[in-house]
Amino acid sequence: MSKSIGILTAGGDSPGLNAAIRAIGKTAEKTYNMNVIGFRDGFRGLMENRFVRLHSQELSGILTHGGTILGANRDKPHKMPVGDKILDMTDVLAQTYHKHHLDALICIGGGGTQKNAYRLLRKGLNIVTLPKTIDNDVFGTDFTFGFDTAMGIATAAIDRLHSTAHSHHRIIVVEIMGHNTGWLTLGAGLAGGADVILTPEIPYDSDIIAAAIKNRRKEGKNFSIVAIAEGAVTNKSAKKLTAVQQKYESASNKDDKENLRVEYKLIEKKVTGQTMKLSSKLEELTGLESRVTILGHVQRGGTPSAYDRALATQLGTACVDLIEQEQYGIMVALNNGKAEPIPLKDIVGIRKTIPLDHPWIVSAREIGVCLGDE
Ligand code: F6P
Repeated sequence: MSKSIGILTAGGDSPGLNAAIRAIGKTAEKTYNMNVIGFRDGFRGLMENRFVRLHSQELSGILTHGGTILGANRDKPHKMPVGDKILDMTDVLAQTYHKHHLDALICIGGGGTQKNAYRLLRKGLNIVTLPKTIDNDVFGTDFTFGFDTAMGIATAAIDRLHSTAHSHHRIIVVEIMGHNTGWLTLGAGLAGGADVILTPEIPYDSDIIAAAIKNRRKEGKNFSIVAIAEGAVTNKSAKKLTAVQQKYESASNKDDKENLRVEYKLIEKKVTGQTMKLSSKLEELTGLESRVTILGHVQRGGTPSAYDRALATQLGTACVDLIEQEQYGIMVALNNGKAEPIPLKDIVGIRKTIPLDHPWIVSAREIGVCLGDE
């Protein structure tokens, strides 16, 4: 008997999602004669049993479109806003899965989605996930789809900022997304020729950045581009965060742990996204005018790049092949160019940060880019 599969897209949207949905739907229909339904708006649609049947006609013409035809949101199965309450609705989601007699559910998303999918796996559902996010921070895969497009958009923005920074002899501080990792900022910063690149992985010191900008002036370069990740922090803030993290790790009481987790999140919210503050500080320290550009959600919108379309198609088709072989409880990852299954239990809750000896970091240092630390 042919299999029935469900798909949902959760978390923030990402270029390449429609390419993945299309690849899954077409492979399921054309190669394996499976039935496919798509749940609307991530885990919420699964809870509310809002779905659409996906046949060739629904999948036609979507490859080049940004966003997701299914809709997405950040609701979590175990903390679902229902009326004025936040409830654990995991069992209700599982009931919808069984109501449709699904053989597997494909959850496409970033780190949060992998965790939520794992919750459903522990309820006995046959789960397969795909890694998507512009942040590229999902552990276990070489790349997530969406990253390449966003890196291209951020690079194009830096290219444009160069000419105006140069004309006005200004500093331009450009804030780039990426949550708590610096993949996007480092990639776009390198590709766009930023003079300073600040990532969450390397806490920064404003005096060091100002010294680098002044050095450029001595060399006759009266402008500088500073690419800063939204999650970048100063040395001082990083120390505060590390202290709370250490307390969290050594706490044994559950309530103490929860309080420390909340404290960490509060500090983190306060000390990240300090782009305006850094810009003023640099004006003060260098005597140059500084302007801020926050790229924001423009990085997630529009047409996916060729690479993201190809990657999403590769992972999407491999995902259906694996379902046909009844391999469940896995994420379909890119490993040295190949789509390979990796157990979900081995990747959940781990954030892929930039290793400090990553080739992009080494190259940035070798060409004289200031990373805020030396
Ligand atoms: O995870 C993708 C991402 O775009 C991050 O880079 C950013 O921090 C976050 O989502 C923004 O989320 P939202 O769209 O919910 O504001």
